[in-house]
Amino acid sequence: MADALAQLDDYLAARRPEFEDRLARLVGIPGVSADPAHQPDIGRTADLAATLLTDAGLAARIVPTPGNPVVHAEHIAGADCPTVTIYNHLDVQPADPAQWDTEPFHLTISGDRYAGRGSTDDKGPALTALQAAQYVIARELPVNIAFVWELEEEIGSPNFEGFVRQELPRLATDSVLVSDTVWIAAGRPAIDYGLRGLVTFEVTIETGTNDTHSGLTGGPARNPLAELAQIVAECLDPATGRVLIPGFADAVAPVTDAEIDSFVASGFDVAAFMAMHGLTSMRTTDIRSVLTRIMGEPTFEVHGFTGGYTGPGVKTVIPPRAGVKLSSRIVPHQEPHAVFELVRDFIQRRHPDARVELEAALPAYLGPHIGPHADAARAAVEYAFGVTPAFVREGGSIGAVLTMDRYLQAPVILLGLSLPSHGYHAPNEHYDWVQAAGGTKMFAHYFAQLAAGGHERP
Ligand code: BES
Ligand code: MN
Ligand code: MN
Repeated sequence: MADALAQLDDYLAARRPEFEDRLARLVGIPGVSADPAHQPDIGRTADLAATLLTDAGLAARIVPTPGNPVVHAEHIAGADCPTVTIYNHLDVQPADPAQWDTEPFHLTISGDRYAGRGSTDDKGPALTALQAAQYVIARELPVNIAFVWELEEEIGSPNFEGFVRQELPRLATDSVLVSDTVWIAAGRPAIDYGLRGLVTFEVTIETGTNDTHSGLTGGPARNPLAELAQIVAECLDPATGRVLIPGFADAVAPVTDAEIDSFVASGFDVAAFMAMHGLTSMRTTDIRSVLTRIMGEPTFEVHGFTGGYTGPGVKTVIPPRAGVKLSSRIVPHQEPHAVFELVRDFIQRRHPDARVELEAALPAYLGPHIGPHADAARAAVEYAFGVTPAFVREGGSIGAVLTMDRYLQAPVILLGLSLPSHGYHAPNEHYDWVQAAGGTKMFAHYFAQLAAGGHERP
């Protein structure tokens, strides 16, 4: 196997311009899945993705769904060869240019740093895996490699299950690598074995048809914004983060001390965590409490209020309607629809004319982190980065992981390459060549282990 990977460094040096060109082309398309106005950009992203995969020598197709398409590609080395499937998503979060130092939908390269929306979540890791696949394909290693590139991960993967069910015979695989998670820090790789789930919903209140002058109507008129603020305060104690809805945490399976111990041992540092995320104050800075909350406790978050006047100066208006966007991260064994119904009923009992509408609903994921494929992933990280990865649970959510785990009957390994400092969903999101180069070696090593028959097929 050492032989098969001997030319990786030369390969990387030679292919860097191509990697940067591909990333620039992908980042240049604002494929924001949450915004209907960007629907054409989703289509353009799918077209470009298929072109990149085809140019790399794979057989690619754009598989339509009732929502956004999924791009599927495969390289078949032989019917008897083991198969690995790599999942990434190419849709991105919205970006507010006013908050960015550079143009969000233009890849700005400065040295090793690649800034742009989607660069690290999740276009850079996708292209990293593709670069590794090209290396092993060129060397004719006996391994089949498939890519699944989703285009609605950032809205909760509403059509991914339909895609998997429809394509099931073509998706047969021995393992799945999902590269859409973050490390502990630079130089501290992590392989996640758990993700929180997510329920997102919006509460709206309407008490009139138009803005009114608060001098004329204030007093008798209801105020939807104020009522929504009260609803939030009834659900959540913001100081502690405790959710006040009775029964909310009943189904929660507590994180074990051993899990926290292993995360602490990974080198997690609270001050570094705060600095990386730009947090100047937190509800707790106790390391065990921080980790317990992220890995295994549910949350109740307020993302934004809509309605009313927020412009300059004085405008004494009472809005006729307002909304608040809310979500809960959920953990094993909470069930997303049960959580939603609990929250909805709690709110509507007190506020009968509040509308509570469900958006995304994803269960939490807890996978195995032992076995031949986890060993292969660990060895790949050690080979590429010279460090043993920590196996940890993360607080984010990836709908496709649950679906693939359920239908593909193959281990799903979360082999991420992003760093906390890369700024997932944040202004000035970036990826970097150190992660791309190391990541290429990591994937190539995993592929080579499979090709070498380093472990049995399940
Ligand atoms: N890559 C993230 C998931 C993630 C976040 C993994 C943090 C590990 C740590 C993914 O793209 C994401 O942002 N998911 C959304 C899904 C949601 C919008 C349905 C999330 O977690 O908010
Ligand atoms: Mn992602
Ligand atoms: Mn994301």
